[in-house]
Amino acid sequence: MTASSPLLVVEDLRVAFPGRDGAMVEAVRGVSFTLGRERLGIVGESGSGKSQTGRAILGLTAPEGRVSARQLAFSGVDLLNCPPKQRRALRGGRIAMVLQDPKFSLNPVMTIGAQIEETLRAHSRVSSREAKTRALAALESVRIDDPERVYKLHPHEVSGGMGQRAMIAMMLIAEPDILIADEPTSALDVTVQLQLLSILDALVSERGMGLILVSHDLRLVSSFCDRILVMYAGRVVEELAAGGLGHAKHPYTRGLMACLPQLGQSSHPLATLDRQPEWAL
Ligand SMILES: Nc1ncnc2c1ncn2[C@@H]1O[C@H](COP(=O)(O)OP(=O)(O)OP(=O)(O)O)[C@@H](O)[C@H]1O
Ligand SMILES: [Mg+2]
Repeated sequence: MTASSPLLVVEDLRVAFPGRDGAMVEAVRGVSFTLGRERLGIVGESGSGKSQTGRAILGLTAPEGRVSARQLAFSGVDLLNCPPKQRRALRGGRIAMVLQDPKFSLNPVMTIGAQIEETLRAHSRVSSREAKTRALAALESVRIDDPERVYKLHPHEVSGGMGQRAMIAMMLIAEPDILIADEPTSALDVTVQLQLLSILDALVSERGMGLILVSHDLRLVSSFCDRILVMYAGRVVEELAAGGLGHAKHPYTRGLMACLPQLGQSSHPLATLDRQPEWAL
């Protein structure tokens, strides 16, 4: 692969679920983008299809959902038509996703250390001694100060922020080329949030990983990412260079920005977004 060819090509991705009357309802309605070794942000309000886009790339759409695309390719591999075994090997190995709620993603009856080792073993043959060494190193790489102790804990014994970091350690141990991080910092306080982002940032610049950061926090995404996709009602309504937020054209993006509280300005009443039905067309 040349340096300039994208890691991931998504063209006209659609994800539909059966609605109440049995007819299929599209949650993702023709999303297209490419990802290189860069930080791509996806923002948009709740229900706009951010998580379903990530899940479809990983092949983690709920069984009742239907996924289609003109192209969904990772390093030239057609993800929708490759054998299930190859898809499973890619998932967690070369493409990983930190799911939105780590509480549901970590196995409650396994220690954190054992879970990280299991992920490693699923993708490479290592001795148990090496697995442990690498699991501890992974915990250390997400700035967990006391990896030996955390290694032995169960998920309910750690804080939310620690759980999210353990989750990221688990995803990173297989050294993926692409990491999709779905609201990885939304449950964390600001200091831990910034720590985690700097860990992810280092992985992009040091390892050349491609990162998709999903968030509804426009300010966070714009300060961290190289490029931003703005989603609304299942579509990408705007693509922006991170520094170019001020040039946003879509009324939804502009409305979002107008709602950001500014330091030093009166925030009473708080601005609210006045959604227009034609945005969802
Ligand atoms: N299993 C399912 N069956 C039916 N509809 C679903 C299913 N899973 C997701 N959806 C719908 O898909 C749409 C997009 O959901 P998605 O989780 O991608 O939103 P999101 O942008 O990640 O929102 P949030 O910011 O709240 O995480 C929603 O309207 C949701 O109701
Ligand atoms: Mg989501």
